[in-house]
Amino acid sequence: ILVRGLGSLAGVTVVSPTLLLTACNDKTAADENGNGSAYHGITDGRFSVDMRLRAHPDTVSILSGSPSEVWRYTANRLSGPEDTLTPLGDGYCGPVIRLRRGQRVRMRLENRLPEDTTVHWHGLHVPPDVDGQPRLPIGPGAAMTVAFNVVDRAGLYWYHPHPHGPDGGRVGFQSYAGLAGPLIIEDDTERALGLPAGDQEMILLLQDRSFAGDNELTYLDGGMGSMMTRMRGFLGDQVLVNGRPPETRDVGTRPYRLRILNGSNSRIYKLAWSDDRPVTVIGTGGGLLAAPEQRPFVTLAPAQRIDLWVDLSTTEPGKALRLVSDSYRGGMMGGMGGMMSDMALPAGARFDVLTLSVTRRERGGAPLPKRLADALQLPTVDQDTRVRRFELGVVMMRGFAINGRQFRGATVADDETVTLGDTEIWEFVNNTMMPHPMHVHGLQFAVIGRKQVGSRRGWSGLAAGLVDAGLHDTILVLPGEHLRIALTFTDFDGLYLYHCHNMEHEDNGMMRYYRVRA
Ligand code: C2O
Ligand code: CU
Ligand code: CU
Repeated sequence: ILVRGLGSLAGVTVVSPTLLLTACNDKTAADENGNGSAYHGITDGRFSVDMRLRAHPDTVSILSGSPSEVWRYTANRLSGPEDTLTPLGDGYCGPVIRLRRGQRVRMRLENRLPEDTTVHWHGLHVPPDVDGQPRLPIGPGAAMTVAFNVVDRAGLYWYHPHPHGPDGGRVGFQSYAGLAGPLIIEDDTERALGLPAGDQEMILLLQDRSFAGDNELTYLDGGMGSMMTRMRGFLGDQVLVNGRPPETRDVGTRPYRLRILNGSNSRIYKLAWSDDRPVTVIGTGGGLLAAPEQRPFVTLAPAQRIDLWVDLSTTEPGKALRLVSDSYRGGMMGGMGGMMSDMALPAGARFDVLTLSVTRRERGGAPLPKRLADALQLPTVDQDTRVRRFELGVVMMRGFAINGRQFRGATVADDETVTLGDTEIWEFVNNTMMPHPMHVHGLQFAVIGRKQVGSRRGWSGLAAGLVDAGLHDTILVLPGEHLRIALTFTDFDGLYLYHCHNMEHEDNGMMRYYRVRA
């Protein structure tokens, strides 16, 4: 398929005047599938936040030397609190959208790309037609307005494109080109904990990329290498943090909160501290844990978020603490196994993600509370709870499948239909040679347990860093595992997606719709 750099694609941006005219009028602009008006969601006139988010090609500096062509999100706040939008460093990433639970939000989404796109609110409990699903694309030059209530727990979520055309998904390509940003939800319960805030709260969006000599991004180069990349997922040879090479930040002797989002196409990180101190985890994709947990390192799969707390109050000024990640290698099961491994960064390679350089003595910063979320509610299950099994599989030469089925647009099988209000157990069965970060749209679920049934095929090195407590929308299923989650389908009926968030896997079939029936 494609493509070296984005230059060629970005160069063909032609916005027809007719489309632009249509785009100016939200109420009448219809998407290409005739799926009705391009206004979705609540319609009440009083919104606490009103903003515009535009996807467009741009040229930015990433490495030293020539700038790189990217696709990116730019946002404007029309009304609402001043801190609703803040830039995420000076890279290409979308701005940090900061919302408060209880707000009514309206966003006008504008597509200035040369192809269809959508904007998906990853992890948010929003109605199906606000969810940015591929069945509701925004055509080139068109716009769509979505409006929703912010009902989720405080936490770090994110937004990214979710288009899928007749030749497969475009999530991997568009996200790789630069379309992704963090979305934070705050609430009073979290604020009352007094966790590190302001300069003591860092948001880190991790992505791996490869560049050609002229600093153009390279994705799939064609030929055999591309075929293997599509099976394994894209792995770049360098890691970017907030769209820039890893950096050093000056810090004081006090506690810090690191909120990390893995926005990579398929790279799994093993995040650890350079001085081997344990990693203190305070939250996951669905917000704060009931209580902090410690790990030697944390395993962070694509689309997952992790909330870390680190205390530098006893670190001497002049010293530095580095957040590092280990590269990993999958099973060497003959020729196939080799292709699953991380060849871009050799096995055991340790690379920096962030350096915290302690430059000043400072007082302050509350100790970490022993209890973080007293009212953390997880779906409850018993012996009568319905169990649904999902076999994760490979379709030779055609990609991946769930229960033998590949993505077929909005077609839903009987065993993919659930009932509004029900709680179910979903069991993901991984008989493949690779881990799959499985994601369910529209809700947060709890992990009931993992059972090791078959061989982990060389991936066991990731296990000690898994954090299963708390709430999640994306969970890593290792090879040979049966992993059970509990989920409750509330408030909204209609179509949602579930899929592997290895973006090359979802783009190559490992995605399906499920239906919530009222
Ligand atoms: Cu990050 Cu289907 O989504
Ligand atoms: Cu999602
Ligand atoms: Cu997968």
